[in-house]
Formats: sequence, C-alpha cells, structure tokens
Amino acid sequence: MSLTNFPYEGKPAAAPTSQITTKVTMPALAEMKRQGKPITALTAYDYATSRLVDEAGIDMILVGDSLAMVVLGHDNTLAVTVDEMLHHTRAVRRAVRRALVVADMPFGSYHGTVAEGVANAVRFVKEAGAEAVKIEGPRTELVRALTASEIPVVGHLGLTPQSVHRLGGYRVQAKTAETVAQLRADAEALAEAGAAAIVLEGVPREVAAAITADLSIPTIGIGAGPDCDGQILVFHDILNMTFAPHAKFVRQYADVSAVIRDAVEHYREDVEHRAFPTDEESYHLPAAVREAVEAADIPSLPLAAGIHQV
Ligand code: KIV
Repeated sequence: MSLTNFPYEGKPAAAPTSQITTKVTMPALAEMKRQGKPITALTAYDYATSRLVDEAGIDMILVGDSLAMVVLGHDNTLAVTVDEMLHHTRAVRRAVRRALVVADMPFGSYHGTVAEGVANAVRFVKEAGAEAVKIEGPRTELVRALTASEIPVVGHLGLTPQSVHRLGGYRVQAKTAETVAQLRADAEALAEAGAAAIVLEGVPREVAAAITADLSIPTIGIGAGPDCDGQILVFHDILNMTFAPHAKFVRQYADVSAVIRDAVEHYREDVEHRAFPTDEESYHLPAAVREAVEAADIPSLPLAAGIHQV
C-alpha cells in the first residue's frame, strides 16, 4: 500500500454533478453560480478523510476552525491556533487533487491590524498550500487588502462562531427587519471589497435567498436553506462523529461512530480470545532457516532476524 499513490490521477472516483473534472479554482466556483450549478463543500481536517472527500467529487474543502471542536475536543472554536490550523491545512493539501482548498483563519489571527491579518493569511498560502482563506464578519478593509495581496477570500456572515461570546450562544441570526437589512448590506460590502464567495451560516432561508440573488459571487449555506449557490456541512456532523445531538440543518448520511465502535470492539475481542492474528496473518521463516533454528534449538534469535521475511 502506498499512501501517496493517486490511482485516479486527478479524476474523482465518483463523477461530480458539477461536470468539472479538472482542478476546481475560485473562478470555477463563480462560473458554477453563473450556470446555476450547485457548489458542494465540506470541511475536512486530515489526509485520509480529505482524500476521501476529494475522491467523492466535492468541489470545495474547508479546513474549518470547527476542528477545534470536532478534532481537538474544545468547547468552541476560539482556542485553535494559527500553527494548529497550518498543521491540518498541510495534511489536507497533501491529500487533495481536485477540490479547492480553503483555510479558515482562526480567532485572533485577523482581529488586530490589517497588516497582521495579511501576514497570517500569507502563511496559509505559502506554508500550507491554501488556495483561499475564510474570515468571519464584515471586515471589508481586510478583504480588500487580502484581495490586493492575491489571496482569494471567502467571507462568513450570519452565525459567526468566533463571535460566540458577543452573540451569547449559537443562535439563528437576522430575524428582524433591521438585522436582515444589515446582513444584506454586509454581504454587498464584502462582495464589493473583493470577497470571492460568502458562507452564510444560521440565517433564515428567505434572507439567504435574498442575499444569493443580490450578489454575483457565490453564497455557500450552512443552516441557511436550499436557495444558496452551494452547501457546506461539517464532515463529522454528516457521519455522526460529534458525540452531541445534531443541529436541525444537519443531515446524517452515515453512522460512522457505530461502524468504528463495532470494528474496534471486534478487534479487541479477537485479541482477547487469541483469534487475531492467525497463522496466515503471520510472517514465516524460510524452510531452511526454520530447520536450522529447530536443529540448533535456539528459537528466539533467528526468529527475530526472520521478521523481515515476507
Ligand atoms: O469551521 C467551520 O467548519 C466553518 C463552517 C461551519 C462553514 O466555518
């Protein structure tokens, strides 16, 4: 087995509905919006799962700061650092051939000066191979500076998890006429500043539909209804790997927790009952060496040397 072997050579195993069989780029996502083709997006955080997501034909992979919760076990997304996000983005980058790889800028990495935000974003592109960065909130000055620095930006409006303390929890946003108007204005401003796409999270369907119609750049919804240009979900949510009740907008496509628990229990039982490994799953000495070992009656030393025989 070779981890670096890519049998499909750039072509996904499952044909994506987008018909894009070559590398997905940011302009390709804009073209999908123009053509009315749904954009598929999912988070992923490591080599193996990113590779599976890519081979399944997903258009955009977000190395989301949700990894703080679903991978690292924190209560919210605030604790994850730039270095941790870079580490995971590099692993994803090594796995992905087709999808657009977007790195989430973690809390604190763009909340100071614009220059600090640009410097941190440059690290994601230069050190981890990200093709775009995502930032939360209506930060138009930063979006303008990043775009001018040749770094495509995905905005993120509505329920912005890095604002959890200000928002007082994870709540659906834009539920009054004033906040709807503000969100639409923020989305317009981000697009005008150069954002290449906007994630809309936790907003009423009607609001997401209006913003999607307002903008020429793609909207990617999560808990924002079916009228966005694309949809994104958290990888661990769709596979029941979060150990928590899932939100209304999550659809579970498999119970991977049950599959893993069952497989691991089975393995434990096999070891406990000496049912694993079998003789077929063991290496053996060549016959001549075995005979010499048996004749010399010193089993331990030649056996150790013979471990490399296959
Ligand atoms: O970090 C993340 O997973 C996200 C998605 C919810 C869009 O930002």
